[in-house]
Amino acid sequence: MKELWVELGPQRYPIRVERGLLHHVGEWLLKDERIKGKKAFLLSEIRVAEHYLEPVRSSLERAGIEVYTKVVSAGEASKSLTQVEEIVGAMLTAGIDRSSLLLALGGGVIGDLGGFIASVYMRGIPFIGLPTTILAHDSSIGGKVAVNHPLAKNSIGSFYHPLAVYYDPGTFATLPMREVKSGLAEVVKHALLAGKEFFYWLRAHSDALLSLDGEEMGEALIRGMRVKVRIVEADERETAGVRELLNLGHTIGHAVEAAAGYGEVLHGEAVAIGLVQEGRIARGRGLLSEEELNEIKDLLLSFGLPTELPSEMRMEELLPYMYRDKKNRDGKIRMALLQGIGTAKGMEVTEEEILALDQTK
Ligand code: NAD
Ligand code: GLY
Repeated sequence: MKELWVELGPQRYPIRVERGLLHHVGEWLLKDERIKGKKAFLLSEIRVAEHYLEPVRSSLERAGIEVYTKVVSAGEASKSLTQVEEIVGAMLTAGIDRSSLLLALGGGVIGDLGGFIASVYMRGIPFIGLPTTILAHDSSIGGKVAVNHPLAKNSIGSFYHPLAVYYDPGTFATLPMREVKSGLAEVVKHALLAGKEFFYWLRAHSDALLSLDGEEMGEALIRGMRVKVRIVEADERETAGVRELLNLGHTIGHAVEAAAGYGEVLHGEAVAIGLVQEGRIARGRGLLSEEELNEIKDLLLSFGLPTELPSEMRMEELLPYMYRDKKNRDGKIRMALLQGIGTAKGMEVTEEEILALDQTK
């Protein structure tokens, strides 16, 4: 068992990582003195539920917890206010109250959706993250929970932390390969924010990571989560210019996801595109060398990720989405720009620099 703590004063919480952990969630909850109620609402989605709902449900029931389940459609389109309303209806009908627990079993979509509902249902009920994707090594930590609006990704949300995260990498065995690759994009992002060693370690182990080698993947996840935890602890509410760095590649990435229609380009794919496009802006400013930009692009390509906009898409059409990005200040677009591999800084970026990307390779 690997254990990391997110240290946020009284809100500190553990992330426990172990293969097979989903079968023992109930036992862990019994040990948690903060959990008072004996009723749980288990939220999942169809593709995850098929494999993992029953083991979690029976583990909870063995612990004497009364379980209500709700299984929604898979995919980004489920991060919507319509879905929130439907789930809240199911929770009210089940008699879920403030002493009950919401458990979010799935990838980043269910984590963000479930966490958001936990943050607003009866003004907040306790929740537990049960992540099942590689990408969720990022999304399950740090308390950003949200749903999408058609005009802007993650634009309806809260900061709301789980009581604990139980992460079972055994679930990756059923992940489609496209999702494995998508998850690796956020690992690359974390590496790019953590000095050079992690990035070059990823490059040296890319084959093992793609083949889901237990040891290498476990190490990549722990390293990535340490980067995330360190940044969240330094700037939980993204007010000190530190947490915005976790949005590396995301200003353009989120715009690509929204413009393509949620779910068409996967989150990690969009981030990979964003990392290279925003990297070109950094190169244009002399912050990142041509060689480093090529190294980043090559690593993403070696993970089978896209690095260019979908062929029919242009920066001009992405600009309105970027103008609605949460990092903006006084109507100016901001991005986290790399200053070499391993460090980044939040900066204003001009429309001209963004539009010029359509002509740059
Ligand atoms: P996801 O939850 O949609 O899961 C990806 C796909 O894999 C889905 O089709 C799902 O059905 C399937 N799946 C999940 N686990 C599986 C398993 N173990 N076996 C088989 N199939 C499985 O997407 P994701 O990539 O995990 O997360 C992306 C979301 O995370 C985006 O909405 C993004 O905005 C969000 N995100 C949030 C944060 C944050 O800080 N809150 C950070 C990064 C990303
Ligand atoms: N994924 C961005 C953040 O957690 O801040």
